[in-house]
Amino acid sequence: MSRKKIITIVGARPQIIKASAISRAIGLFFKEEIEEIIVHTGQHYDQNMSQIFFEELGIPKPSYNINVGSGRHGQQTAKMIDGIEEILIKEKPDSVILYGDTNSTIAGALAASKIHIPIVHIEAGLRSFNKKMPEEINRIACDHMSSLLFSPTKQGIKNLQKEGFKLKQEGKATMDAPNMYHCGDIMLDNSMYFGERENRGNQLLTSLKLEANKYILCTIHRDSNTDIELNLIGILEALLSCQEETQMKIVLPLHPRTRGKIEQLRDQNFVNLFINNPNIIILPPAGFNDIITLEKNTKLIITDSGGLQKEAYFFEKPCVILREQTEWVEIVDNGNAILTGADNAKIKNAISLLLAKNDFTYPTLFGDGKAGKFICSKILSDL
Ligand code: UD1
Repeated sequence: MSRKKIITIVGARPQIIKASAISRAIGLFFKEEIEEIIVHTGQHYDQNMSQIFFEELGIPKPSYNINVGSGRHGQQTAKMIDGIEEILIKEKPDSVILYGDTNSTIAGALAASKIHIPIVHIEAGLRSFNKKMPEEINRIACDHMSSLLFSPTKQGIKNLQKEGFKLKQEGKATMDAPNMYHCGDIMLDNSMYFGERENRGNQLLTSLKLEANKYILCTIHRDSNTDIELNLIGILEALLSCQEETQMKIVLPLHPRTRGKIEQLRDQNFVNLFINNPNIIILPPAGFNDIITLEKNTKLIITDSGGLQKEAYFFEKPCVILREQTEWVEIVDNGNAILTGADNAKIKNAISLLLAKNDFTYPTLFGDGKAGKFICSKILSDL
């Protein structure tokens, strides 16, 4: 039997991390059946946003890098479609794997679907029900071009059913008759795998002069929080007052766009006050091992990242979500996280509530950490 050729498309930081779970599963269980080729769109290009993850996570180097770089949505996406289409025509893969909801995802979906290459969408079915988020458009459109859809949560399956997708489709999966599965979260595979191996904990905490459970971890990168000055200031002010009140250090690994936007704020006095506060520890974007260490040892996570919200849950930490909606409704419904948007008062209130609470529960919401193997086996049987 000849091996199935799969092209994995990545571009943004979290996709590189997610892809490592599939590459690992292929290497361990499906080497004889699957050949994987990795294509990097170049959406993220800084060393700390891209290369570091390939090195740390042991993912095979991408065979292609389209080097699109940053740009307007249309411009960036268009360049990716062009580059991906050319590679797909040349490589003629049996299927394409796409992750999540970024511009790299939608570009891959448009390129592959038009030339009839089946799409496998990992993280299908997630919805924020806010189409002003570019990610919401990307994920909905990608789901509807896919042949095989893998949802990390039961809610994701319900969302897809409402849009007409059916469970237990007969026969092989196609774009017109897709198959979908609830498979658990591929990020849990990674958090379990790397969380167990991670042993730099003490070293990193010592170098940052941090004590376990005595600091707060925060990340901010969504355009709605960085590009609207009032929102960005609202969040930063809430961090300052939370620091003063709790006397805990706040660790802030900063996405390059957020760093740029903070530096450009009109109130330079405020910028200096924030940046020079010795208890606000601003770091470059963190690699995966470092972020896992910081997550495992923190008291609380404050974030607008989809990934960190869930990792907070995996490592049993409460989470303030700096967004109006989340695709991970389960963790909010279960009382582990609170949605605040960029509202200063809501953020402060949520921090106080979560720091005071001590009856958290962590039921199994995201599967068993074996999603990667399951997905590979279905690609082989269903396509
Ligand atoms: C993208 C995803 C978002 C995901 C995030 C993860 C889309 C629409 N958004 O958002 O869903 O949560 O990745 O990190 O695809 N920049 C750099 N260096 C880089 C990359 C970006 O400086 O390596 C700066 C540029 O100024 C760029 C800005 O960040 O314009 C935004 O980058 P972009 O890739 O457009 O979106 P993200 O905010 O990273």
